[in-house]
Amino acid sequence: MNILIIGGGGREHVITKYIARNPKVSKIYALPGNGGISTLAECFPVSAEDIGGIVSFAKSHAIDFAVVAPDDPLAMGAVDRLEEIGVKCFGPTQKAAQIESSKVFAKSLMSKYGIPTARYEVFTDIDKALSHAALSDCPIVIKADGLAKGKGVTVAENFQQARDAIMSCMKDKSFGASGERIIIEECLTGPEVTVLAFTDGKTVVPMMSSMDHKRAYDGNKGPNTGGMGVIAPNPYYTPEIAAYCMTHIFLPTISAMNQEGRTFKGCLYFGLMLTDDGPKVIEYNCRFGDPEAEAVLPLMETDLLDVMMAVRDERLAEVPVKFRDGASCCVVCASAGYPAKYLTGYTIDFGDAEDMAGVEIFHAGTKLEAGNVVTSGGRVLAVNAVADNLESARALAYEAVGKISFEGMRYRSDIGAL
Ligand code: AMP
Ligand code: GLY
Repeated sequence: MNILIIGGGGREHVITKYIARNPKVSKIYALPGNGGISTLAECFPVSAEDIGGIVSFAKSHAIDFAVVAPDDPLAMGAVDRLEEIGVKCFGPTQKAAQIESSKVFAKSLMSKYGIPTARYEVFTDIDKALSHAALSDCPIVIKADGLAKGKGVTVAENFQQARDAIMSCMKDKSFGASGERIIIEECLTGPEVTVLAFTDGKTVVPMMSSMDHKRAYDGNKGPNTGGMGVIAPNPYYTPEIAAYCMTHIFLPTISAMNQEGRTFKGCLYFGLMLTDDGPKVIEYNCRFGDPEAEAVLPLMETDLLDVMMAVRDERLAEVPVKFRDGASCCVVCASAGYPAKYLTGYTIDFGDAEDMAGVEIFHAGTKLEAGNVVTSGGRVLAVNAVADNLESARALAYEAVGKISFEGMRYRSDIGAL
């Protein structure tokens, strides 16, 4: 089989690596890929947002199966366009991807179908948003409706911060059209849990739970990032909570999407908060999380491509999806300055970290230059270790990180320190 992977981060590296293990695979292409992916797949400089370019590439390279991994191409309809020309895909259609690409859509779905989430209101008018914020007890949460590269959410501790966030979205248009509509919602508290789930619209199979660390600095300080590290499983996510989420959140979401004529097929990301009133949905994403995928997929025993093909063909119920016992700890090595401005082009020295048993190094923002791996993004590497328990996985991940260096390399030293 000829496989096409769309995307070029750590998530796409782990997906490519595990797909490459399937004996049915003869060739993998990646658009655009990265330095790590290029050791497993042939990479071409077609942007993940160039849907026309992706479709013509798929036509001319006899692609049998495509994995559309990032949010932007999913929201832009890459799966619809590829399926139209006969390429089977893992990933939701544009209509189903709205569960991530419009927070207003996701919130109204939850209120219509009684899925637990924070109370909220929608605004398209700056003055109304400002007066609502002025009358609310802080903290409150301001969210741009559309995709905003993970930066569209502000937890405002006071009115000043709420006003700045509202003005930034609606007046300064920092997120373009994504911020023309905003949500102002109740601030929830409690441990956060990510549950990635395979679903074909009939069956939903949650993967092992995980915990992202979104803030830039130790002690959950600093600005939000795409994710600075992950542990799996999430120690707060007990079997009782998992059973509750299946009945009150996962199954109702799948059924709601079917009833709305937006059957979701692919990986559905449930961002949950375990509040005193029970688990509530903070957000849905229409794809694997990054770096959640780098921590969760290494624990999966079932062949990834077989599961993805079963999802596409709506036979997920026939495939038992198994996870091994044990834990993952994934530490992101980032460029100095990330998530704000940073410089790239620095050579990465891996020491002997790549040879360590139990350790896998996924490339997020790297490229090959004259035989060297150099930095090319904010999040550069996702270093994951698998061991029998969290403590050993943490120790192993940080031992590996200690062997790696590049100019300005920065990482959180408290991933998984509970
Ligand atoms: P998102 O971009 O939707 O992933 O949100 C980023 C982060 O903002 C989440 O991971 C939470 O930590 C926080 N957040 C979002 N919504 C709420 C809420 N209603 N209450 C408290 N924190 C929230
Ligand atoms: N790590 C958070 C996300 O992928 O949205």
